[in-house]
Amino acid sequence: MTDIKVELGHVKGFLTENQLNTYKEKVASTFKTIYSRTGAGNDFLGWVNLPSSITPAFIKDVKAKAEELRKKSEVFVVVGIGGSYLGARAVIEALSNHFAQLVDTGSPKIIYAGHNMSEDYMADLIKLLDKKDYSMTVISKSGTTTEPAVAFRILKNHIEKKYGKEEARTRIVAITDKAKGALKVLSDSEGYKTYVVPDDVGGRYSVLTPVGLLPIAVAGVDIEKLVAGAQLMEKYCVDNQNDSNEAAKYAVARQALYHAGKTNEILVNYEPRLCYFSEWWKQLYGESEGKDGKGIFPASVTFTTDLHSMGQYIQEGLRNLMETVISVENPANEVRIPTDDANLDQMNYIAGRRLNEVNQTAEKATILAHVDGGVPNIRIAVPTIDANVLGQLIYFFEMGCALSGYMLEVNPFNQPGVEAYKKNMFALLGKPGYEELREKLDKR
Ligand code: PA5
Repeated sequence: MTDIKVELGHVKGFLTENQLNTYKEKVASTFKTIYSRTGAGNDFLGWVNLPSSITPAFIKDVKAKAEELRKKSEVFVVVGIGGSYLGARAVIEALSNHFAQLVDTGSPKIIYAGHNMSEDYMADLIKLLDKKDYSMTVISKSGTTTEPAVAFRILKNHIEKKYGKEEARTRIVAITDKAKGALKVLSDSEGYKTYVVPDDVGGRYSVLTPVGLLPIAVAGVDIEKLVAGAQLMEKYCVDNQNDSNEAAKYAVARQALYHAGKTNEILVNYEPRLCYFSEWWKQLYGESEGKDGKGIFPASVTFTTDLHSMGQYIQEGLRNLMETVISVENPANEVRIPTDDANLDQMNYIAGRRLNEVNQTAEKATILAHVDGGVPNIRIAVPTIDANVLGQLIYFFEMGCALSGYMLEVNPFNQPGVEAYKKNMFALLGKPGYEELREKLDKR
């Protein structure tokens, strides 16, 4: 069984039985499309049995490399963008101390590069790395993505000057395609330790490959538990290819709501440590479904923080919204609200109670208010946030996305749209081969 429970009590008032049944009826055949590998994008289904194909020997190798890097690094830089960055950050931030950058956690500080083109960001990073012992991983499946390639060029230069070429090469791990691509050629010629991103796993489905597992292990997270959680969910899905499967319930609800006019989905958390999990989810669903003029627009908020900003719009704005709440039942710690004799803030009525009780009450109150305001609510309940549950959640959302994408009749595994800006940028930067496009763009 899975620890994840999807509750649809606050969806039903927005849909007829018929509307839900239209998508429920598609579940069994959609699972079949995935498992028989007969759908669009079937050459990118490596994620389906990825967790169960991870061997103890592979985990041991990743952990050993991570330990070696941990020992000699105050800081570990993860160079990558999109699917080559968000999964690692999602898990690391979800499982780290909220103030990990300021307290001694016994692990290197994990920082990120190659996910933007900001000169000031890079300048600050270089100044920091001048003073810190560090190592890094460069992650790029294609090996040709501009942002990480530029960042790595700068940081390779820096690390070689700081430590000398010999030592620098022991501090760099490259994670890329097994055969093709500039990064593979460079890594082989420089003698970097490399890990492979499997051909049949797309960037946004790659968190359980070395793309995510190495940085996550360097951060001190138990990757065995993470993988075990994903394996549990993989098996659960194989054993439950029907409309009571939790991932299928999620896919059915969001597709039915989308076709009833709820075109935007807001992923809500009440735990700020899940903020980057939402960023990972946005890429997964946005890139998988947003094509052919269709798709649910994925957005995210952290409550109660954003109730004081986006709350107004969600309550009363354009009624094209649905919300999906990741509801965490048990926090890892306990903090109670103290009594105050003066009671000037009038908070004594909740004195003695745990903060989590107030947080969960805020969740209940908000769900009811938003449902009353016309926003249907899908609630995804998890007992706690730990490595095992996160592994389950990762696979749950991946399967939910594949089911949902196929129900929408798109290819959930390609991303042709992300090329458009790249072509323009290459042309405008003067990359050889893009002269004709440059001329056209310059005229505009
Ligand atoms: O999902 C995707 O394919 C993208 O977000 C890529 O992960 C991103 O563009 C990085 O690509 P690469 O790993 O080839 O550098």
